[in-house]
Amino acid sequence: MKLFIDSGSLKDIQTLVPLGIIDGITTNPSLLAKEQGNYREILKKICDIVQGPVSAEVVATDFDGMMREGRDLAKIDEHIVVKVPFTRDGVKACKALSDEGTRVNVTLVFSPAQALLAAKVGATFVSPFVGRLDDIATPGMQLIHEIVEIYSHYEFATEILVASTRGPMHIVEAARMGADICTCPPAVIDSLFNHPLTDIGLKKFLADWEKAQAALAGKA
Ligand code: E4P
Repeated sequence: MKLFIDSGSLKDIQTLVPLGIIDGITTNPSLLAKEQGNYREILKKICDIVQGPVSAEVVATDFDGMMREGRDLAKIDEHIVVKVPFTRDGVKACKALSDEGTRVNVTLVFSPAQALLAAKVGATFVSPFVGRLDDIATPGMQLIHEIVEIYSHYEFATEILVASTRGPMHIVEAARMGADICTCPPAVIDSLFNHPLTDIGLKKFLADWEKAQAALAGKA
C-alpha cells in the first residue's frame, strides 16, 4: 500500500520524504491556507521534493471554472494531480480532464455509490474520507471495505486513496482491506514507527553490548 502525506507543510514533507516510505502528497485548500507564501510555488517545491503524485485542489465549483483551474494547476509540474470535489460538475470535470490526459483525484467521497461514479469517469484516485464519517458515528472503514469489494468486480484503473485518517489503525485496516493508498497527517505517519518493545529491546541490546565491551576492556 502506498503512503501519502496529507499536508502542505514543506517542513513536514522535507522531514518525512528522506525516510523512504512516502509515495506522494495530498493537499486541500484548508491545508494550503495554513502555509505562508504563494500556493503555486509551494506546490512546485512539494513536487520537486517528493517526485510522486501531488494532489492540488480546485476551488471553483462550476464546470468551466474547474476546467480552467485544473488545467492551470496541471501546468505547475508533471506530478500534479488535479483534485475535484464529488459534485455533478466535479464528476463532469473529472471526465473531461481525464480525457485530456490530466490525472484527477475525486475528493469528498462519502458513499460507495459516489466511488462507483468516480471510477466510471476515469478518476485516477478516489478519496473516501474515513475520519469525517467516524466523527458522525458512521464507521468510515466500512466504506473502504465496500469500495474495495465493488472495484474488485471490474477493471477500473481508479486507485482507492483512503483519506481523512486520524490514527495508525486506519492505516493498518486500510492495508488489510487492500486499499491502494492511505494519505495521513504527518503525526499519524510518525506514530506508525512507535512500539515500546522496540525501544526496550534496543536499550537492552545496547546495554548488554556495553557491558561486554567493558568486561573485555577490564581483562586487557
Ligand atoms: C484528503 O485528501 C484530504 O486532504 C484530507 O484527508 C482531509 O482530512 P481531514 O478530514 O482530517 O480534514
